[in-house]
Amino acid sequence: SSLPQRDAADRSEPSDEDTGGDIDWDNLGFGLTPTDYMYVMRCSLEDVVFSRGELSRYGNIELSPSSGVINYGQGLFEGLKAYRTANRQGYMLFRPEENARRMQHGAERMCMPSPSVEQFVHAVKQTVLANRRWVPPQGKGALYIRPLLIGSGPILGLAPAPEYTFLVYASPVGTYFKEGLAPINLVVQDAFHRAMPGGTGGVKTIANYAPVLKAQMDAKSKGFTDVLYLDAVHKRYLEEASSCNLFIVKDGVVATPATVGTILPGITRKSVIELARDRGYQVEERLVSIDDLMGADEVFCTGTAVVVAPVSTVTYQGQRYEFKTGQDTLSQTLHMALTSIQKGLAEDKKGWTVAI
Ligand code: COI
Repeated sequence: SSLPQRDAADRSEPSDEDTGGDIDWDNLGFGLTPTDYMYVMRCSLEDVVFSRGELSRYGNIELSPSSGVINYGQGLFEGLKAYRTANRQGYMLFRPEENARRMQHGAERMCMPSPSVEQFVHAVKQTVLANRRWVPPQGKGALYIRPLLIGSGPILGLAPAPEYTFLVYASPVGTYFKEGLAPINLVVQDAFHRAMPGGTGGVKTIANYAPVLKAQMDAKSKGFTDVLYLDAVHKRYLEEASSCNLFIVKDGVVATPATVGTILPGITRKSVIELARDRGYQVEERLVSIDDLMGADEVFCTGTAVVVAPVSTVTYQGQRYEFKTGQDTLSQTLHMALTSIQKGLAEDKKGWTVAI
């Protein structure tokens, strides 16, 4: 399908060689750079299925002051990345169907209709193509794609909104943490919790993210990169960081908290588990206690935004624990293995990538 007509004010049609604006590709970080187009699709609660969506210029959207998302937090988001392929012929997505299915699962929990896997992937592809001049050059980062599903219809009493909007926008990004690819320093939070049994920790609802800001701000003010959360019942088992999953390595055995409902089932998490097993590692999905963490040789985080981030220290109740980072670590091996597939530099034996 072709690109929509661009405004007369636009300098030119984007070509695959063309890259966006005056952007400094070497210092992208994870800030928002507004791009040209977004994809929008709507659905009423009665219709259940989403109608045909379309691209429109990226910009503000109009919402009723009484929309479900604003009043009651009825919303989900997703995150995935598009890379420019090595031969510059096109772009690659990483397991977009997984994001589509996770959104469907979350929509069920949040009483929302959701796009089909085909609709979701089509919307993502359209968004990448329309914004292709914003996909960073090889080696400089990725186009981060942010699909949203929100209760956009008006509702006053607490109930599912009568109308839903699925929207996809994108921004070029570099590394997530200010440390770049350098190891990060985490602090264990034992007063605030991210999720509880029976809650929504296992789905990517927008409502899981504002509540972690306070602990995050506090951690940052003390020089930490991010916060590690403990389970709300025993306050003993690690769950995840504010924006990524957690892995530990001890005597060559890898462990990560099992996705028992309070933990976000990360697509990078799932991929990294497979990549580690392929390399002969035993990977356990289980309860990971604070004691397990303290005794670990290596600790790392995974996520779409953070990719695979080595953890050099974790501070718990004022005590700082150090872990191995750098050369010959599993996190470095896995980072290389994963990003090589994502960027089209290694053969994709698993069929994880989708070319656009
Ligand atoms: C991602 O890794 O894509 C996420 O959704 C985390 C977000 C807080 C940036």
